[in-house]
Amino acid sequence: MIINEQVPLHRLIMSLSQALDYVHPDVVDHQQRTAYIAASIARQLGIDKYEMLDLFFAAALHDIGLIGSENRIKGIREGNFGDPMLHCETGYRLLKDFFLFTRASEFVRFHHLPWKNGKGAECKGLDVPFISHILVLSDSIERMIKRDIYILDQSESIVEQIDLLRGEKFHPDCVDAFHEICEVESFWLDCASNRIYSVILKQIDWPTLSLDEKSIEPISRIFANIIDTTSRWTATHSAGVASAAVELAERLHFSEREKFLMRSAGYFHDIGKLTVPTYILDKPDKLTEKELHILKSHTYYTFSFLDTIGGLPQITEWAAFHHERLDGNGYPFHHKAKDLTLGSRIMAVADVFAALTEDRPYHKEMNREKTLEIINKLAGSSGLDYDVVKVLESDYNTIYDIVKQNRQEYSVRQEILLKHLLPEHPGVNL
Ligand SMILES: [Fe+2]
Ligand SMILES: [Fe+2]
Ligand SMILES: [Fe+2]
Repeated sequence: MIINEQVPLHRLIMSLSQALDYVHPDVVDHQQRTAYIAASIARQLGIDKYEMLDLFFAAALHDIGLIGSENRIKGIREGNFGDPMLHCETGYRLLKDFFLFTRASEFVRFHHLPWKNGKGAECKGLDVPFISHILVLSDSIERMIKRDIYILDQSESIVEQIDLLRGEKFHPDCVDAFHEICEVESFWLDCASNRIYSVILKQIDWPTLSLDEKSIEPISRIFANIIDTTSRWTATHSAGVASAAVELAERLHFSEREKFLMRSAGYFHDIGKLTVPTYILDKPDKLTEKELHILKSHTYYTFSFLDTIGGLPQITEWAAFHHERLDGNGYPFHHKAKDLTLGSRIMAVADVFAALTEDRPYHKEMNREKTLEIINKLAGSSGLDYDVVKVLESDYNTIYDIVKQNRQEYSVRQEILLKHLLPEHPGVNL
């Protein structure tokens, strides 16, 4: 098995940033476009390379705290946030404990704080980094760009709107730097480009930061936190899948390294669900044919987001093929047995097991007998791998207990992260 552990961090962040913003055409690439603008202003201001990198991570993930598809669309497109500081704080909390994002999380925390002629240098007794004010400006510029109007027909009016808020909402130095870069058409054409991913790859001088399988895990957990709170029914689903998949992998003699990758794959497996509107994820009634197609496309997007990062072949495959079936009746690739490795087969079993042992809109948590009956039926019809199912069956109670405990620990973390910040959010119903 070929394992490439050199994962370029910037590509990982960009793909995840894109996944978060894929929910509606009006907000696609909002964070990447903001990151492009922020990097351009920062360069003009002479910000050093390492601060620039933290700013880039912050900008690319700044709205990570806007959880749920409707929140995201409203928050970004209409600027309708309720209290804007709420999603800043949620984003800060989601990111701060992972060492690579610690500094970036501080910028995220204040990305809606106005400058107010100097009062914005601090907030509730905390010093606000100057870099945060670059983000405040960049985010606003991006949101002022109307997607249905040709970019060069609106650039002048955007500059005028920004100027009106110089010193009030925006730090004067940031506005002055913006003036230096916005004179040329190419800046605006880049901002509005459908090829923003490639533009950023060329624009930034990326240091060679790479990640091993152990450092990918905390990032994948952050995304699991977000995926699992997008629907009221899946508060611990990704954690359940990750944990079950690792237990099965261990019993099938996967190495320590492969188990780390398996856990991350479990955390990431439903990342494509970020593209599915919450009303479909939460719908208690039968889905229409179109809604079902949209829901089922989530694994296509899981594949797409992870595959473009490069360097994660196992995680991509194990995560994205969890609805493929050995008889070719899965989706979206309709792979058959010959294309599905043991890791993918494990993930498919773990996903069904986790789903059956959770409360869902259409069923309560199922007991051992019912769960195994359904899973065995799927194995019998050549949907799931018979050998993997036997491993689950032979040690069911132990695996169930471990998964349950992991779900509980994970839900405590979810609760701490989100409960007080998003009191009305359905996903916090743990
Ligand atoms: Fe925001
Ligand atoms: Fe799925
Ligand atoms: Fe799933």
